[in-house]
Amino acid sequence: MKENKPRTINMNLDGRPSQYLLGPLAGLELSRFVPQPPPVYIVDETVSRRHPSWLEQIQEGCDHFSHCTLVLPGGENIKSLARLAEIYAWLADCGVNRDGTIVAVGGGTILDLAGLAASTWKRGVNFVALPTTLLAMVDAALGGKTAVNAAGLKNPVGTFHPASGILADCGFLSSLPLRAWRDGMAEMIKTALIGDPRLFAHLHHSRNQLARVLREGDPDLPVPGILGALPWTEWIGQAAYVKADVVNRDFREIGPRRALNLGHTLGHVVEAWSQETESPLSHGEAVAIGMAAVFKVAAERGTCPLPTAVQVTELLMDCGLPVSCPAPPPATLTALLAGDKKATSTDGVRWVLPRKVGLMDLDGRVTAAEIIKWLD
Ligand SMILES: NC(=O)c1ccc[n+]([C@@H]2O[C@H](COP(=O)([O-])OP(=O)(O)OC[C@H]3O[C@@H](n4cnc5c(N)ncnc54)[C@H](O)[C@@H]3O)[C@@H](O)[C@H]2O)c1
Repeated sequence: MKENKPRTINMNLDGRPSQYLLGPLAGLELSRFVPQPPPVYIVDETVSRRHPSWLEQIQEGCDHFSHCTLVLPGGENIKSLARLAEIYAWLADCGVNRDGTIVAVGGGTILDLAGLAASTWKRGVNFVALPTTLLAMVDAALGGKTAVNAAGLKNPVGTFHPASGILADCGFLSSLPLRAWRDGMAEMIKTALIGDPRLFAHLHHSRNQLARVLREGDPDLPVPGILGALPWTEWIGQAAYVKADVVNRDFREIGPRRALNLGHTLGHVVEAWSQETESPLSHGEAVAIGMAAVFKVAAERGTCPLPTAVQVTELLMDCGLPVSCPAPPPATLTALLAGDKKATSTDGVRWVLPRKVGLMDLDGRVTAAEIIKWLD
């Protein structure tokens, strides 16, 4: 029984407790996070198909829970105002009241959308997240940010609404396609870079094993044997701890939380721009390019050790992630950067620039010319 005990991380976000549990689903006690049963479920379609018994496992000991479930396809397209409106109609049909609970089961896209629905329905209902991708387990499920895309921009409409419980079971990852593993690795590497030099060293030390499972293969297919090949539970727990610690200290992103945007300023730009091209980038791929670029810029300026920049680039490449892409035309780059949601009217775009692993400058400035140079 002891070895099934979940790893637990406690957060207190805006005065509200938020608990992260990592372990086999059956031991995660969903009922503890549902004050007024029954909850309703918003579930990723692939997860519902590939893991049909998830509901039984998580509901162990809760016979009275309902099966009011909305199954939606995962993916960036789901993060829209139109889908949000569909969810509201469904919540009304299900009769979800102010004391209700929405349980979301899926990757970052389902969690961002369902979290926004939970934070706005009846001015906010209880939210529980079951992350099913690596990215969601180490990043999207923690910290209470919700969002949909709108007006041609990524994530401009959103709220802060932390999940009361985040219940993570690595077993979900057995069906994860290679592309989603790579995306998750980009965020895990980012987290290690901002807050856990030992985790970064461990990941870099495991480069060859990572390359064996992640560097080649069909991006749309699961990776056989990957779960047993590396210490995923340990790494996920460590990365989740870093994120939890950062959001605990700065829930509203006025200070240290901005470090989590490492690689994201440029990442959002190339992600948005690439959607118009023949090779659209995923979120993780875009963040990888963004991280490689800021390390190169910082190393070139002499504000970060060159060997660190080289290690970051090596590790990203061994995880099958891109480290550069064709630069958008300068005018497009400048316009997209101006639309960055982290820009304020007074101080322009603030970049997260590395000084060393574990230490970031949160107020960096980078010129479009530097970016174009390093992208190409
Ligand atoms: N809120 C936050 O703090 C935060 C942080 C980081 C990223 N995000 C957001 O997260 C999103 C990306 O999340 P993601 O990478 O998890 O993408 P995703 O939700 O699109 O999942 C990737 C793909 O994997 C499928 N999938 C999910 N779980 C699976 C499983 N266990 N087995 C097989 N297939 C599975 C999905 O259907 C989808 O096709 C972006 O929209 C990003 O903006 C949010």
